[in-house]
Order: sequence, then C-alpha cells, then structure tokens
Amino acid sequence: MKQLERERFVAEVAVHLRDGVVPMADSTMENPVALYTDAAHTARERALVFDAQPMVIAVSAQVPNAGDFVTDELTGEPLVIIRGEDLVVRAFYNVCRHRGTKVVCEAAGSRRRFACPFHGWTYDTSGTLRAVPESYAFPDLDEARKHLTELPVVERHGLVWRLPSGWHEADLIESLGPLDSELAAYRADTYVLERSEHIEQPFNWKFAIDGFLETYHLRFLHSKTIGPFIRSNHGPTTTYGHNIRMMAVRSSYIPEVAEAAAFVDPMPHVAAVYILFPNTVLLWQGDHLEVWRMYPDGADPGRSIMTASLLAPKAPDTDEEQRHWDRNWAVLMGTVLNEDFAVSRAAQAGFSSRAQTHVLYGRNEPALQAFHRSMASLCASEAK
Ligand code: FES
Ligand SMILES: [Fe+2]
Repeated sequence: MKQLERERFVAEVAVHLRDGVVPMADSTMENPVALYTDAAHTARERALVFDAQPMVIAVSAQVPNAGDFVTDELTGEPLVIIRGEDLVVRAFYNVCRHRGTKVVCEAAGSRRRFACPFHGWTYDTSGTLRAVPESYAFPDLDEARKHLTELPVVERHGLVWRLPSGWHEADLIESLGPLDSELAAYRADTYVLERSEHIEQPFNWKFAIDGFLETYHLRFLHSKTIGPFIRSNHGPTTTYGHNIRMMAVRSSYIPEVAEAAAFVDPMPHVAAVYILFPNTVLLWQGDHLEVWRMYPDGADPGRSIMTASLLAPKAPDTDEEQRHWDRNWAVLMGTVLNEDFAVSRAAQAGFSSRAQTHVLYGRNEPALQAFHRSMASLCASEAK
C-alpha cells in the first residue's frame, strides 16, 4: 500500500474497532443458487468471463530458468508454459501439430527439446518444430503447422497472465490500475516456489473463492484454528475495476496505538487478500505469498479443480526454515480443506436441494458482494 492509503487504512480500521462497527456494503444482496448449480451458467462463465478477462495461468517461480516448463489443464485445455532460451515465458496448447496428442506428458521439468511420444515430432522452447522423423512423408507441411499453437501471455509481478484476444500488456496494466504498482511492491518475481498442490472438490468454483472474501465466518468456523488471530468482520475492501483487495486485520492490531501515532505501519498487522478477477486468489501474508487458482471441473458446475501454491522469498537454507514453511502449509491446508471446504461441500448439497432459490450476502460481506456483482455484470445474470 502507498503511504496515503496506509494512513487512510489506519484511520478507517481504528474507527471501526473503537466504535465496534464494521465496513459495510449499502445493502444486502441475493444471488440465485442456480449460479452454483446450472451447467449452462458455467458455460456462460467460461465464455463471457474466463475468455474475456486476463487470467493467471502460472506463477513465474514455476519456471525460473531457461528451458523450465510446467503443464496445466485447469483451464479445461491442455497447456504447456515454457521459459525459452531467451528467458521469455510463452504458453502453448500442449497439442502436437501432427495428430494432436500431448507433446509434454510430465507435470514440470526442464529441457531444450520436446519430443512428442507418438511419432517423435520435436519442438524447441519457443514452440518451433525442429524435427520430423521420416520428413519425406510430409513434403508439403505448411508454415503454420511448424509451431505449437501459442496463447498470448505476459509475465508481470511474478505471475503469468493469459490475455484475452486482442489485449496487449498495456491493457493488462490499465485494467489493474493502481493495483499494478501495489502488486509490483511484493516482488513476487524474485520469489521461489516452496510447494504447490492440486485439489479437487465437489462444489462450484465460485464457492472456493467466496470463502476468502469475508471475515464474518472466522470466529465461528475457524474458532480453533486461525479465528483467534484475525478479527472477524473487519475486512476493509477496495475494488480496482473487477479486481478486489480485502484486508484481513490481525488481532495484534491495537487501534489505540494506531490512532495515537501520527503514522503506524499497519502491514505487520494485516494480511491482504486479492481477487485477481475472475479466479485467482493472491494472499500476501507478510513473510510469504499464496496463490490459489480456481476452475470449474470441465462442464460440471458442482465440481471444482484448483491449485494452491506457497511462494517464499528464498529457498530454505536450514531445517528450521523448512519446518517454518511446513508448519505454514499444514495450517493453511488444515484450515481450508477441513473447515472452509467442509462447509462448501455442504453448501453445494444445499444448493442442489429445493430449500431456497437464493443465497444471501450480508452488508458485512462487501468483498463477496463486489465479486458477485462483477460476475453478474459480465454474465448478465439475474443477481440483484
Ligand atoms: S502426434 Fe505427435 S508426432 Fe504424431
Ligand atoms: Fe475461511
């Protein structure tokens, strides 16, 4: 956060805590449960939101060096992301230009040439076809076929963003607005990937995001884990176009101290939750970053697939440093998988019942409302 914004934040949170009030939306909001259960709506989300917005498809730390690659199928299409020998990150459909099988079968690795397992067509790190066994059999191979099909991506702030058709890096910067310099300040481009996990769950992809967007539930659902350390109901929210930042205020934040000082740096006392719209959650936790990418599982509105990654400022030098990340990861997974995702699974069953047509977002859930308003505006759904 820039200094002016920090001062505003300190003043805002101090008043909230002193007066016992919470940041509020103007009104409550209802959302049709069908948005979580309807396959036609999931298809609409893919077409009108996922394909129309910039989307994080990898983190730079997955491919730090020339020749590093990672494959990804969360988007519903097989992709391979490669850092070329020129150090530029490119993304390709992981689809051989001969007869279409996967060229790269491993999850991740590093190499200079990618030979298709089927008939040995071989591509380089820039996706260019370099060798065709028995090439006399393909005398009229056209130029377009001599390259893996590439997707437009840019690497920015330690993240690899797939751009919508017709977008350039300048459009991404413009869409981030003031968030662009704020994300730059985290220096995620210098971080290392500590670990990453693939997760599949039986609930709609949006419910995985919903759980990060309100602090109302902390003292109930997380009473035995993170609840005592973060203040429930204090999630000051700022929107940047469709992107959202919600601050979670730690219990260590003492409003009297903050108010008394002319300026107190609030950062040690907060965690920042960003929705990089539509489906990436970036968490700044002080000493590390977490990146969550949430997707529908194919066409199924009732299932989601995602990855969670922990990025650290540097690789651990000692066993104690490694244990620090192990503990962090255990708390994260324990809290999210056993608590947040347990109620999410139960909610999905509820959505599929005839109990009610709409769910309700409170005035104390402004970030949640902002996310669903953006989704509704792009999908032209009937949210109200
Ligand atoms: S499908 Fe890849 S070489 Fe034939
Ligand atoms: Fe939670």
